[in-house]
Amino acid sequence: MQRREFFKVVAGVGAVIVAPSLITTDLRADDGRLYKTYNKVQLVDAKGNPILASKLLEEENYIFNYPYVGVSSFLIALPEKTETDVTLKSESGEEYIWKGGIGKKGNIVAYSSICSHQMTHVHKNESFISYQKKGQKTMACKQTGVMVCGSHLSAYDANKGCKVISGPAPQPLASIVLEHHDDDTLWAVGVLGSDKFHEFFKAFKSELKEQYGGARKAKKKVKETAQVVTLAEFTKDIIQY
Ligand code: FES
Repeated sequence: MQRREFFKVVAGVGAVIVAPSLITTDLRADDGRLYKTYNKVQLVDAKGNPILASKLLEEENYIFNYPYVGVSSFLIALPEKTETDVTLKSESGEEYIWKGGIGKKGNIVAYSSICSHQMTHVHKNESFISYQKKGQKTMACKQTGVMVCGSHLSAYDANKGCKVISGPAPQPLASIVLEHHDDDTLWAVGVLGSDKFHEFFKAFKSELKEQYGGARKAKKKVKETAQVVTLAEFTKDIIQY
């Protein structure tokens, strides 16, 4: 397979034909698309049972830690099929293609919880960033059914790869690339787009120590399984504007 064709196959969120978990380095395709592989990890519940895509509650904020132990990400089953092949742009101007949601309905998406503006993220004490349901008004924009960071009112379109709708966010939230298998299980395999992980680990050392026992532990890559909980289970206080 030619290098260019290979990137075309792996750089999406949806139909992954070649397992990207086989790739172990940063990928920056010559057409500008960004993709980085991490451990292939199965999403499971608190008892270690596989999460099944068809059992997810629509519009619920689910949280799982990926790709690092100290980095939380959102898993959301949107109420309808997402858009597909959305062109997104990183802060530095690199374009990449978000292929769309996965699952039978093409409505399941996953995004890093780290806001691209000043790295607000979900925390065990409170969360200022979350998906706000369709019909639930937000101060951030007129559109509903969007991801909102309440710190400075950035809104991201969860239906379009978390493209920025409004506010100071300079780029989309990074997407967690998922696979949906024939047995309805869900797997995280990589990250698409420009992430803030490096800056996050530098900026929140004391928080990582408090929550995960130290930056070194928080920086470990998640292996084999990632536990999925609701945002209400993960955090004490969900703050939405
Ligand atoms: S940190 Fe999210 S909008 Fe400022």
